[in-house]
Amino acid sequence: MQVLQTIAQMRAARPGAGDLGLVPTMGYLHAGHLSLVERAKAECGAVAVSIFVNPTQFGPGEDLSRYPRDLPRDLGMLEAAGVDLVFAPEPSEIYPPGFATEIRVGGVTDVLEGAVRPGHFAGVATVVAKLFNIVQPTRAYFGQKDAQQSVVIRKLVADLDLPVEIVVAPTVREADGLALSSRNSYLTPEQRAAAPAIFRALTAARVLFEGGERDAEAVRQAMRATIAAEPDMRIDYVSVADPETLRELSTVDRAALASMAVRLGATRLIDNLLLGGEAAGR
Ligand code: PAF
Repeated sequence: MQVLQTIAQMRAARPGAGDLGLVPTMGYLHAGHLSLVERAKAECGAVAVSIFVNPTQFGPGEDLSRYPRDLPRDLGMLEAAGVDLVFAPEPSEIYPPGFATEIRVGGVTDVLEGAVRPGHFAGVATVVAKLFNIVQPTRAYFGQKDAQQSVVIRKLVADLDLPVEIVVAPTVREADGLALSSRNSYLTPEQRAAAPAIFRALTAARVLFEGGERDAEAVRQAMRATIAAEPDMRIDYVSVADPETLRELSTVDRAALASMAVRLGATRLIDNLLLGGEAAGR
């Protein structure tokens, strides 16, 4: 496994022929990331993983400075997983002095995470476009847990004609349903015990939908009620939206994305489930 820190090193190491899968990450890896690596290994001749805590996607007062980092541990996991290339640049390599460009994807970034975290998706779109230019992957792998991020990246790729295929893989969960996230490491034992309420709320939405409920507000209300039973949880948003436009639905008469963001103390967690239809894998 080669570990590359600079853009020049990464470009020189990219295999010239054959397809390359890229798993972009911010490190502090978990089984969710490894499932993306496995998928990439099954589908591509070589696999690269990027590890970069991207400062531009964190807003003022967010968790950039305390975001968990452990590069030696991550490299051990990636070596064991059989990854070929790891790109782990310093922030100054990606954003040198004078850097002044930002990619803003319109429309789908105005709602949900984009509404609560202004500028977040411009940071994501900009760094992902840079990673695609630097690594030049054939395919790039993202998790369904960050559903809106995947929608934004698909739009970025379509609008800018970027020659990369986007693959979105299912969310990996703990046995009690909590979606794996590097941010779960912030939770106190009490908060960790409360956190599966998020999956219970999403499951309540799915059960209602599968039982024939088509009133989107009734589905949202069932999610809110599950979270309201948790004294330490605060809702940022609860949504039942079109999975592509991310616009809220009034009637769930087609596949829908049930999603939510909650705060447990200082930790913010997001999760989602698709109601009807299959996850858009590709
Ligand atoms: O999902 C993430 O970890 C990040 O948003 C990404 C895609 C690596 C961009 O920094």
